[in-house]
Formats: sequence, structure tokens, C-alpha cells
Amino acid sequence: MGRILRRSPARSRVGLFCPGARVIPFDLKTLVDGLLDATIVLSFDRSGFRRHAARFRAEDLEVSLAGRNCLVTGGNSGIGKAAATGLAARGAEVFLLCRSRERGEEAAKEIRRATGNPAVHVEELDVSDRTSIRAFVRRFRPRVSTSS
Ligand SMILES: NC(=O)c1ccc[n+]([C@@H]2O[C@H](COP(=O)([O-])OP(=O)(O)OC[C@H]3O[C@@H](n4cnc5c(N)ncnc54)[C@H](OP(=O)(O)O)[C@@H]3O)[C@@H](O)[C@H]2O)c1
Repeated sequence: MGRILRRSPARSRVGLFCPGARVIPFDLKTLVDGLLDATIVLSFDRSGFRRHAARFRAEDLEVSLAGRNCLVTGGNSGIGKAAATGLAARGAEVFLLCRSRERGEEAAKEIRRATGNPAVHVEELDVSDRTSIRAFVRRFRPRVSTSS
């Protein structure tokens, strides 16, 4: 509560003002996107895709993820596998969190082959099972240091 929302200077000086609060830069499109996304109906349909696609910049994805640990649930198929492949292609240390080690290892092998990144690992985890989640959190150790 009590925040100042201000458009980024490059776009406009207009914004919401609440005295004595923190200043948070925003732009109108981001605000409108946030509101439309919250409706779900106008976000998960084709219009949501088109709205976000119009602002998509491919160069934003041209980053090195070397030295980053990335954990991907559902990483052995579908969107999770595609995301894991994209992360591995950018040099991340990738962990596929899968309920089936066999399906996970199969996907990890494919991702290593497709990206040339050997640092794709499989961890067993059933996200519908609290005991499994707790056990994973206790045993998981990132491969690359996160201290820096
Ligand atoms: N926001 C959107 O517009 C949008 C669009 C499409 C999809 N989605 C969502 O994105 C998610 C993935 O979609 P998808 O099409 O990629 O589905 P998918 O191909 O069926 O992949 C689902 C993945 O989740 C894993 N999984 C399921 N239950 C699990 C559990 N209890 N513990 C660990 N892993 C589990 C599956 O592993 P197994 O191989 O072991 O089954 C599989 O790897 C879904 O939740 C879907 O609703 C969102």
C-alpha cells in the first residue's frame, strides 16, 4: 500500500501518486497487460498471445545462462521440455524434476544431444506429493555456486 506508480520517463510523466511512498516505474502497456492477464479469459486465448507477441523481442533471449542453476518441473515433456532445452542451449545447469527417472533420463539425453550442453540432470520429484517435495528440498544441492 502507499506506493507511487510512475510511468517510465521515456514514455510519459503521468502516473499514480501516493504521498510518502516508494516510486515504482511502470508503463501503461505493462499495466494494461497485467490487468488483461488477470482476467484469464483475455489472456489464455488468442488475443493474449497476439498482445504479448507484439512486444516480444527475440534478442531478449540472447543471454548466457552459464553459472545459473535452473530447475524445471515437468521437464521431460511438452512446455517443460521445451523450456529446459532453451535453458540448456543458453548454457545453464539444468535440472529436470520428474516423477519418472526413466522418462527424465530419456529427455535429458535428448536435450544434451540437441544442445551440446552436458549439464542436464534428472531429479526425482512428484509435485503432488508433499513427502516427495520435502525430500527433494532436503537433498538438492545446486551444481554451480550461487554465492556470487
Ligand atoms: N498458460 C498457458 O497458456 C498454458 C498453455 C499450455 C499449457 N499450460 C500448462 O503448462 C503445463 C504443461 O503443459 P504441457 O502441454 O507441456 O503438458 P505435458 O506435455 O502433459 O507435460 C506435463 C509434464 O508435467 C509432468 N507432471 C505431471 N504431473 C506431475 C507430478 N505430479 N510431478 C512431477 N511432474 C509431473 C509430466 O510428467 P510425466 O511424463 O511423468 O507425466 C510432464 O512432464 C500444464 O500445467 C498446462 O496446463 C499453460
